[in-house]
Amino acid sequence: MSKLLLFVACVLLVNIVTADIYLHNPRGNNNRNCERGENRQNENRLFDSENNAKGGYACPRTRGVAFTPQMYYYQGSQLQVEWSQQHACGGNVNCQIVLQYMCEDTAPYIRDGIPTDITDGTGTNTPTAADINNPDVGFNESPSNLARCKARQRNGGLYTADQTINGQSAVFTRQNPNGQTSGLECQEERDYYPYWHPSPWKDIAIFTTNVTMCPYYQAESQNVMSKGECVKANGDPLSFNQRQTCLSGNGIWNVTEPYNIAPPDCLPITNVASRDNHLGSVLGGQLAGYNWTIPNDIRNTCVLRIRYNISSSDFNNWEIDSSKNGANAPVKDRPYMDFGLSQPLGMAINTDQLGRTFQDRTYTFGIKQRPSNIRFYDKIYNLNVRGKRGNIVQTFPAVEYDFVPNFLMVQGGDYVHLQWTGSDYNPNRNPNDGEGGPFEGSDRHNFVQTDSLTANIPRLVQNANMFKLENGDVNATLFQRLALLDQNVRECLNITALRAKNNNNEDAAGRDRLNCGKLNNVGVYFDAGLIRQVVSGKFSYMSTRNNNFSNRSQKGLLVVQNGWYNSAYSNKNTQLALVVAVLVAVIMVL
Ligand SMILES: *[C@@H]1O[C@H](CO)[C@@H](O)[C@H](O)[C@H]1NC(C)=O
Ligand SMILES: *[C@@H]1O[C@H](CO)[C@@H](O)[C@H](O)[C@H]1NC(C)=O
Ligand SMILES: *[C@@H]1O[C@H](CO)[C@@H](O)[C@H](O)[C@H]1NC(C)=O
Ligand SMILES: *[C@@H]1O[C@H](CO)[C@@H](O)[C@H](O)[C@H]1NC(C)=O
Ligand SMILES: *[C@@H]1O[C@H](CO)[C@@H](O)[C@H](O)[C@H]1NC(C)=O
Ligand SMILES: *[C@@H]1O[C@H](CO)[C@@H](O)[C@H](O)[C@H]1NC(C)=O
Ligand SMILES: *[C@@H]1O[C@H](CO)[C@@H](O)[C@H](O)[C@H]1NC(C)=O
Ligand SMILES: *[C@@H]1O[C@H](CO)[C@@H](O)[C@H](O)[C@H]1NC(C)=O
Repeated sequence: MSKLLLFVACVLLVNIVTADIYLHNPRGNNNRNCERGENRQNENRLFDSENNAKGGYACPRTRGVAFTPQMYYYQGSQLQVEWSQQHACGGNVNCQIVLQYMCEDTAPYIRDGIPTDITDGTGTNTPTAADINNPDVGFNESPSNLARCKARQRNGGLYTADQTINGQSAVFTRQNPNGQTSGLECQEERDYYPYWHPSPWKDIAIFTTNVTMCPYYQAESQNVMSKGECVKANGDPLSFNQRQTCLSGNGIWNVTEPYNIAPPDCLPITNVASRDNHLGSVLGGQLAGYNWTIPNDIRNTCVLRIRYNISSSDFNNWEIDSSKNGANAPVKDRPYMDFGLSQPLGMAINTDQLGRTFQDRTYTFGIKQRPSNIRFYDKIYNLNVRGKRGNIVQTFPAVEYDFVPNFLMVQGGDYVHLQWTGSDYNPNRNPNDGEGGPFEGSDRHNFVQTDSLTANIPRLVQNANMFKLENGDVNATLFQRLALLDQNVRECLNITALRAKNNNNEDAAGRDRLNCGKLNNVGVYFDAGLIRQVVSGKFSYMSTRNNNFSNRSQKGLLVVQNGWYNSAYSNKNTQLALVVAVLVAVIMVL
């Protein structure tokens, strides 16, 4: 075979990665940044996802500005985390889904990285300690995380099947026998949960096919359990991975205290059970999801991580250990097996992947303290946007623009935190695959009330009756802001002028920065802040830019129960009716 062919074969092999788990809210990067390609550029930028290169959201940045605000959530607010996963979890595979987060307190260098231009590859390389001073480069875990993993002996009791493990440190595992590193993640920690050494991740929730494991997960979580590792007096890592050998090797067994937070939620996988070969909805017709109550961990920079671990029942994955390694492996790599037929049959099984973990992580977000006027028992619901620019085929895994949650029910007095982000760094999509500009890869959203979910034209703003103020008035400023964002409308041109400016090229006029009707004159991030819900009713809404009847729909429904006003009447009408009723009564009495 020529070298070229060999190279092509290797590339093909590397790319035979099936689609697997993708976070949609908050947005998962799948190792993308601002590279603007169809496929993410570096699959090992921050972590090992094992996902398809087409997945992931482009960096949440506006082109041409130095700084784009990041998403943030108020402590105690409810965030609907949403993802899609590929296999028949709980049906045809054993499954475990682990949700975690970490912030700068346990991961001091955490950041997305801001490559300075679209071709700047630096931002997509696996970082080294020297890159801390290069703002282009992203970090999740700290350099010491990988250094300690590389120094530490891998757990020799683990089942590695018939794989040849090419090294002795904890970056070498059954799933990663060649010791490929991905960002500053520790491979052994990635592949196993709960992990037995310290990790910077705090646990949120676990979904499992076997809920009898829940007490074990909850007891072994670093939220509640201390974890040790072997170091020298100066803190440099040593190779010993057990307390006894560490001490006899003159090391210090350094114990990291538990995070002292509640143990993770542990839930049956049936809550998010999916079907095979499908990256869409689960039972109930929505994406797989979890309502995360944002912890009281006020931080500037956090990342959410989801891992998805699938295994087969051809042997007991939890009990199997190193005694079944090598020749004793119950299943061999790419086996041809004799079932008593006249000829053995070949099984498409790789033992490094029979039992496999997939992963996605979000871009950074902040956790903010609740404003002091919001009482601790007032509920806050996050209302955001998912999906990226493109048609159904281009938005792999087929997630076009949508609000999330697109159905939200709250009680009078609750707050909705309406906020979204997007990117100017999607691959170029021509006008028929996404509306507006200012770039061919730009996402923008807005929010207007409609008469019903089946309507596609906004209601006149003077008839708006959602989001009323506590005195029952419509806040016209708010509707102006939700519809036109923070565009400087004085700069805008009307469509006649835009067409003239762009030689009657409708597409170019649609992308012109001064086309405020397409929301081109503003950045990707928008925050409406907290909006108190005082009016009862069912309120439908949409985005005028992205809702394109028969081709794309971006709509949602907000239901408010037990509000202070009824949506059918404005407060003023009610007051008027009262005055009239009192007058009538007085007249009748007279
Ligand atoms: C995945 O499942 C295996 C058992 O099949 C278990 O040993 C491992 O800890 C799990 N890893 C993760 C990340 O959940
Ligand atoms: C479920 O977990 C329990 C407790 O760890 C274990 O005894 C049992 O074998 C597991 N069942 C399956 C089907 O893995
Ligand atoms: C032991 O671990 C703690 C974190 O839990 C760390 O702050 C400390 O520096 C470590 N000590 C040594 C000697 O490495
Ligand atoms: C989250 O909570 C809302 C109620 O606020 C509920 O309608 C929704 O189904 C929940 N989502 C998930 C994934 O549990
Ligand atoms: C709506 O989408 C279609 C196809 O995706 C596109 O051809 C059309 O231009 C879009 N509509 C408008 C009003 O731009
Ligand atoms: C009306 O909405 C605007 C824009 O969100 C906001 O700044 C203002 O405080 C609101 N007015 C009242 C009275 O709440
Ligand atoms: C559009 O803008 C131009 C120049 O600003 C102005 O002359 C024209 O009257 C406007 N047309 C409409 C229909 O408002
Ligand atoms: C929807 O897409 C079709 C086919 O691309 C196009 O003919 C039609 O005009 C689009 N609808 C709108 C509202 O643009």
